[in-house]
Amino acid sequence: MDGDLAPVPELARCARAHDAWLLVDDAHGLGVIGEQGGGVLEHFALGSDAVPILLGTLGKAFGSFGAFVAGSAALIELLIQKARPYLYTTALPEPVAAASRAALALVRSEGWRRERLRALVRRFREAAGAFGVSLLDSATPIQPVLLGTPAAALTAQRTLAAAGFWVVAIRPPTVPAGRARLRVTLSAAHSEAQVEALAQALGHACAGVRNA
Ligand SMILES: Cc1ncc(COP(=O)(O)O)c(C=O)c1O
Repeated sequence: MDGDLAPVPELARCARAHDAWLLVDDAHGLGVIGEQGGGVLEHFALGSDAVPILLGTLGKAFGSFGAFVAGSAALIELLIQKARPYLYTTALPEPVAAASRAALALVRSEGWRRERLRALVRRFREAAGAFGVSLLDSATPIQPVLLGTPAAALTAQRTLAAAGFWVVAIRPPTVPAGRARLRVTLSAAHSEAQVEALAQALGHACAGVRNA
C-alpha cells in the first residue's frame, strides 16, 4: 500500500535465527522489480534458502490469472496432498496457463518495459511535485497520495474519475485509520502525456480536498 520494499534480507536473517520459515508474497514485485523481473528475491539476490516459500500472482504484471507457490519439492508435494483450497479448486484453464507462460517469456526478455516504467515513475513524481501533490517516498509504480480521511480519499477519487482518471481510494481497514489515500498505479503502457495530465488532475483534486 505504501509502494515500499520490505527489508527481506533482515527478515530472512531473523527467520533463520529463530528456525522459522519466511514466506514472501511478491504479488507486486514479480515482473516489475529485479533485472529480469524476478521480484524482490532477484532484487536482493536471495534464494530459496533465505525464502523457502515464495507466493506469486499471475494477475498483476503478468496480465493473466491465477497464482503460484514456489519452494522445495517436499513443500510443493505437501501442498498438493494437503492444501484443501488447492485440492478442491478446478485447475486453471489451459489457455490461461499458456497466457501466463507467454507473459513469463516477455517478462524475462523485455527489460525495456521495466525501464520505461521506472522512467514514468520518475516523471510522475517530478510532475506531482510541480503540481503541489505530496507523495509517500516510493520508487515503485505504486505511488500513494496520503489524504487522511476516507471521505477525502473518496472525494478525490470522484474528482479524478470525472476528469477521466481511474485512481482508487484505499481506506481503513486496508490501511491504518487516518492514512486513507489514493493509490496511483502506473503501467508501462501509460504515456508520458497521460502521466503528466494525471499529476495535474491530482494537484487539482488534492487542492479541492484541502479547501473543502
Ligand atoms: C499482496 C497481494 N497478494 C495477493 C493478491 C491476490 O492476487 P490474485 O487476486 O491475483 O490472486 C493481491 C491482490 O491484490 C495482493 O495485493
